[in-house]
Parts: sequence; structure tokens; C-alpha cells
Amino acid sequence: MAARVHIGSHLAIAIAPAGASTGSHEALFLRDGGDSYDGKSVQQAIERFAREVSPSLIGLAGNDFYELDRALRTIDSSATQSRYGGHIPVAITIAAWLAYAKQSNSQPFEVIAAHLNCAPVLPMPMVNIFSGGAHAASAIDIQDILAIPTRASSFSEGLEWVWRIREATKKSLASKGFDTSLVADEGGLTARLGSDEEAIVLVSDAISEVGLSGKAHIALDIAANQLFSDGKYLIHKNGNEVALDSEDFVAHWSAWLDKYPIISVEDGAAEDDESGWLAQRALVARIQILGDDRYATQSSRLEVGLSKSEANAILIKPNQAGTLFAAISTLGLAKRNNWNTVVSARSGETEESWLVDLATGSAAGQIKVGSTHRSERTAKWNRLLELTYDEAAPFNSGQSLRKFI
Ligand code: PGA
Ligand code: ZN
Repeated sequence: MAARVHIGSHLAIAIAPAGASTGSHEALFLRDGGDSYDGKSVQQAIERFAREVSPSLIGLAGNDFYELDRALRTIDSSATQSRYGGHIPVAITIAAWLAYAKQSNSQPFEVIAAHLNCAPVLPMPMVNIFSGGAHAASAIDIQDILAIPTRASSFSEGLEWVWRIREATKKSLASKGFDTSLVADEGGLTARLGSDEEAIVLVSDAISEVGLSGKAHIALDIAANQLFSDGKYLIHKNGNEVALDSEDFVAHWSAWLDKYPIISVEDGAAEDDESGWLAQRALVARIQILGDDRYATQSSRLEVGLSKSEANAILIKPNQAGTLFAAISTLGLAKRNNWNTVVSARSGETEESWLVDLATGSAAGQIKVGSTHRSERTAKWNRLLELTYDEAAPFNSGQSLRKFI
């Protein structure tokens, strides 16, 4: 689903991404149902929007992002944007931003930085090495094991480090007889290992093997929604399937923190599992506790999280919020409350690279776009390299993560 926006003679196009492990609080990606693409077509939603809404958008001021945002939200004010879906407004608001950048002869990140009145900073990457869960046919229970080059002094150095970590992980998987030619949804490696911990050991050993102990660390995306059913977490432990309650589940994965260089854990409890989030409060001083499906890039949900001090970081996915500027508002709220912000792609990602400009222009601090493989991922790394070589902004180099090392 793509949107085209013209501002005068300047045209920009933006494509909405989609997720595989979506939460129930995020803006919908409204599919048509029926036969076309087995029900996944979005043609009807687009036609309805074009008929009922598009004419009222013509003539809005191209530089007034809030006016466009407001207009779209007035048309559908439900949190999950159930009338037209979030994919349409997110694509329109991003295309409007990119068209305005062209019109004002600026880079997209400069427009965001000027809008937020902040100095641009290149983000620290959080890079997928090994996948399970909904991104790899449940090869292991948890969704992503990622590497962060915390001590890298530039983005290009960090990218080379994580590439080496992925290669070393790949070699050790191959030496155990696994097929390493296939890649998961986000370009990570995958294999049906005996346990989550076995996969963490592989990545942890790979970090040491390439000489990066203490210089690169591990992040996990547990994506706990996918494991939660009837109030229990269904996981594999010592070769058996077990059902854990919230406290035991958090205790299960937090035992890994003593053994491996893990500094960030995302969605360590399901989106509405209050006991699970409460159980993570004790870890907030120790690691980055990151909420994805829990907050769904919605300011109102973040407000609740802030009031409970249950985490210290939020994932920002523009299509969860439904418009670009709703996402930016949530990001700003997190930063004002000293939470870390990680701008993130989706598993169903596109070939575009505006996400990098969003992360850089908003000085988000961190970015998560999958692995070093698959061109929808490398499009983002290539844009970051371009900005690095243009010396467009300083590199974050992990200040916001240092306290957890
Ligand atoms: P997605 O999730 O598959 O819904 O895009 C990615 C993530 O959980 O970070
Ligand atoms: Zn996630």
C-alpha cells in the first residue's frame, strides 16, 4: 500500500510496512478479505478512502504536518483506526513529509530535526542475528536475538562488528550440521535448536570469538504475546513443553542476565499482562526494558507505562501509531521522561529508507531494522552509511545504553 503526495511540483511516494507479530492495540492494517490475495488485498480499503477522504485533503498546507495529522484523525479517531486502517494515513503522512523535504530542498532528517528543534544524531543499531517465534516458524520460542555494537565509535564500525558476529554465528551453526542458507523474515539466521538458551549461547560465543566481548552486547525481543495463552506462557524448557505464570516466566528469562551479556529485553511479558510487567520493574535499573506491543507507539498507553515505572524504553513503529506525527509525539513524550527510544522497522518491511531519517532527525538514539541481510534491511544500513560519510550528524555511540553495560 503506497501513497503519493504532491506539494506543488514536488512528488513523493511512501509505502506502509506491515508486521507479522502485531499487537491488539496498534493501528490496523485493514485487509479486504475475500479471494484476492487470499483475503490480504487492500484494494477496497484504498477505494473507500479515495472516495470518502482524499478530496478533503487536497489543498492542505504541505508544511503543516499537524494539520494533516489532525485532519486524518478527525476522520477516524479510533485508537486502532478501524475505519480505513492505519496503513493509509501512515503512508500519506510520510509521503507528505518527504514531499515537503523536496520542496524545501532539505534532507528528510533535517525536516524532522527542525520540526522537533533538536540536533540530529545517527542511531546505535540493534541488529538481528538469530530468529525464532513468528519470524521463523517457531524454530525457538523467542522472536529475536540481536547484537548491539555498544562500544563502536562510528556507525560503519558498528555495522562491520555485527556482520562479523552474524558470520561467526553462521559458521558455528553450520559446524553443528544446520542449513544456514535460508534466512528468517528479518534476515536473521534460524535453526530448530533445543532451546532458546542454546541460541543465546551461540550468539554470545560468536561475540567472544570475534574479539568483541565487552564491546558488543545482546538484546532479546521475547515477543511474549506470541507465547501467552489463557494467562500462561507456553514455552519449551529442558525439552519439555511447560506453562509458566507471569512471575515464573519473567524469572525464567531473567536468569539469562546472569550468564550472558544481555542489556536489553523487549516485550518480556504480553501486552496486557499486568503481573508480567510488574515483575519486570525490578530489572529497570539493570537493563533496558523495552515495550513494543505493550505501548503500540500510542501516547495514551505510554502514559500508563510511565506512571507505573515498569520499563525504561519504547519501540517506535510509525504504523502502530497510524500517522507519522502521532509516532513522533509518542517518541517526544518518552524522551521528555528520560526513556530510551528505539525506532523500528516491521517484519513486513519495504525497500524505503525514511525510517533512518526519522531516527536520525529525532535523535531517537537507537534503530532496529532486522539483520545485515535482505535488501529491505540493507536499504536502511546503506542510508545510514550515506549519512555517516556525508558527516550529516554525530553517532550516538551508545550513551543511552552505557549504564547497562
Ligand atoms: P513485527 O514485529 O513482526 O510485528 O513487525 C517486529 C518486532 O516485534 O519488533
Ligand atoms: Zn517486538
